[in-house]
Amino acid sequence: DNVIHKVMLTVNHKDYTLQILPWVSLLDALRDRLNLTGTKKGCDHGQCGACTVLCDGKRILSCLTLAVMKNGSQITTIEGVAGPLELHPLQKAFIDHDAFQCGYCTPGQICSAIGMLQENKAATREEVQELMSGNLCRCGANSGIIDAIMEVKEQQS
Ligand code: FES
Ligand code: FES
Repeated sequence: DNVIHKVMLTVNHKDYTLQILPWVSLLDALRDRLNLTGTKKGCDHGQCGACTVLCDGKRILSCLTLAVMKNGSQITTIEGVAGPLELHPLQKAFIDHDAFQCGYCTPGQICSAIGMLQENKAATREEVQELMSGNLCRCGANSGIIDAIMEVKEQQS
């Protein structure tokens, strides 16, 4: 149906009410309606991870998620991961390890890594690599990305 829906989202601790068509992706809602353009549109069909955000603490692909399905959810985008005075540890580690070149995949990599570390399923570097394999980097920054994530993982354990 093409009825406009009312969707309430909390994004980076701010509440928003959107009037939205049912087929609008969460990615488009964030970028086009809330001007949160840190979340990137790579493929727009679930294959690159550039659009990864956190929904109620879990990583999701916002291009494959309809905004209406997330009514009432807490969303965190790259704009919301830093503390009030300092970067998120993963943001710092990405800088320290040269974990980006063009930076297009970076917001998704960082949101995905936050979710992955929260899941706490990876013990080894190989497992981290496997659980991050949905986030592609065309620039070949992969080893720096995994180095950065491993550093934060070790700090946390
Ligand atoms: Fe969502 Fe590529 S833009 S996975
Ligand atoms: Fe360019 Fe990853 S830094 S795609």
